[in-house]
Amino acid sequence: MVRPLIAVLNGPNLNMLGLRQPDVYGRATLDDVEQICIQAAERLDVAIDFRQTNGEGELVSWVQECRNRARGIVINPAAYGHTSIALLDALLAVDLPVIEVHISNIHRREEFRHHTYCSRAAAGVICGLGVRGYALALQAMTDMILDEDDR
Ligand code: DQA
Repeated sequence: MVRPLIAVLNGPNLNMLGLRQPDVYGRATLDDVEQICIQAAERLDVAIDFRQTNGEGELVSWVQECRNRARGIVINPAAYGHTSIALLDALLAVDLPVIEVHISNIHRREEFRHHTYCSRAAAGVICGLGVRGYALALQAMTDMILDEDDR
């Protein structure tokens, strides 16, 4: 059986995890996050494609590439979640289940972080649970894929 592929996409400045505002984002690096996702994927018997970019256009292109390739998208859009209608449009266009992740609790932070465009395309949003939010998102996405396969 081919394992379903889940894309795990990360937006701008997440390459700075571990160094960047550790009081807000913790000490885990992006490599640590990738390891958490790899271990979760092994446990769940799914494949992942884990990526990070600082470019809005690149993120949009990666979302587009998921069509007919991945079964779902876990995305931490970082600041583009708050600003990018292009990213929202791409997420709506691919017609795949989307789970949005934020490491920090965006609702406890500045007002401009309370709204994300991506949420309109997301089946669910996990925020404020730190980097473990990625493993939770992969678990939920796998359940959603299995439910879809049962139908
Ligand atoms: C973030 C929250 C965003 O507001 C911020 O711009 C980020 C990271 C998070 O994971 O908590 O870059 O998405």
